[in-house]
Amino acid sequence: MGCNNCPGLHHQINTEPAVFTIADMWEEAKDIRTYVFKGTLNSKPGQFCMLWVPGVNEKPFSIARDYDNELWLTICKVGPFTEQLFQLQKGDKVGIRGAFGHGFSTVKNKKVVLVGGGYGTAPLHFTAYRHMQEGSEVTMIIGARNKDLLIWEKFCKDTGIRTLLATNDGSKGEKGFTTDILLRLLKEEQIDLVQTCGPEKMMKAVAEMCLENKVSCEVSIERYMKCGFGVCGQCVTESGENMCQTGPVVTAEKALSYPDFGLYHRGSEGQKISW
Ligand SMILES: Cc1cc2nc3c(=O)[nH]c(=O)nc-3n(C[C@H](O)[C@H](O)[C@H](O)COP(=O)(O)OP(=O)(O)OC[C@H]3O[C@@H](n4cnc5c(N)ncnc54)[C@H](O)[C@@H]3O)c2cc1C
Ligand code: FES
Repeated sequence: MGCNNCPGLHHQINTEPAVFTIADMWEEAKDIRTYVFKGTLNSKPGQFCMLWVPGVNEKPFSIARDYDNELWLTICKVGPFTEQLFQLQKGDKVGIRGAFGHGFSTVKNKKVVLVGGGYGTAPLHFTAYRHMQEGSEVTMIIGARNKDLLIWEKFCKDTGIRTLLATNDGSKGEKGFTTDILLRLLKEEQIDLVQTCGPEKMMKAVAEMCLENKVSCEVSIERYMKCGFGVCGQCVTESGENMCQTGPVVTAEKALSYPDFGLYHRGSEGQKISW
């Protein structure tokens, strides 16, 4: 099937699950695990896939890495599906379809700041990697409630990315929020692009700060997703746009035009849930 976002059929997406075997897995942080599969979805950073565990369910996850024939998903255990997923072992098989949606832009020879909160930091590993391949200078601001929930710190150190940490309780990095650090950088440095993924209230603050400081910004918006490619209508924002196709990554301007951005989302039955 051709991607609805493309003018032609040059970009093929997989709407049927392909079988992938868990090749490796490790704990990234408390209740956050990275799953490694051999293969590729030919994805761009910020795109997502639908992960099917036979007999359980199918749920959307960002692609944490997709290069050198390794596909990574970094998953936080939060409820029934992810609890079942955490029971799987190396060698077990799952179904994966995608990649879906619009990802983050990759820019050449620019100064980029990536702002991640909690497990929302997952797609920023891949995003940073692609920017660096293009000669861009990446700063990663990573935040979490406490030091045990921070992810990608080692990846950033190993790859020489400037890494600034914030924890709510001050157990690692600065005590406070990623947005405190970002605001300082926006005042002190020349930044070309900010990209963010994490709690929606954090992303709303990031988007507003960037607009105020006239810096381009992209945010990744999660809405309840079932089909992943524009058929079920489950993922619409209050302004009627499918986040699985228009998003998950949109510009700060677009995100701030959604009446629900940063305030609430809808559950599987369409009920409003505050962030
Ligand atoms: C584009 C996108 C990318 C995502 N990337 C990641 C990621 O990289 N890592 C990660 O850990 N999680 C990610 N998520 C969230 C992940 O889909 C949910 O955590 C997962 O579906 C929870 O299922 P559950 O049964 O374990 O928990 P539940 O108890 O069913 O739900 C826990 C939370 O997850 C949300 N959720 C449940 N089902 C869905 C669904 N079908 N679509 C969207 N949200 C849902 C609920 O609204 C609730 O807020 C992403 C979601 C979207 C939409
Ligand atoms: S998830 Fe079905 S239309 Fe977006």
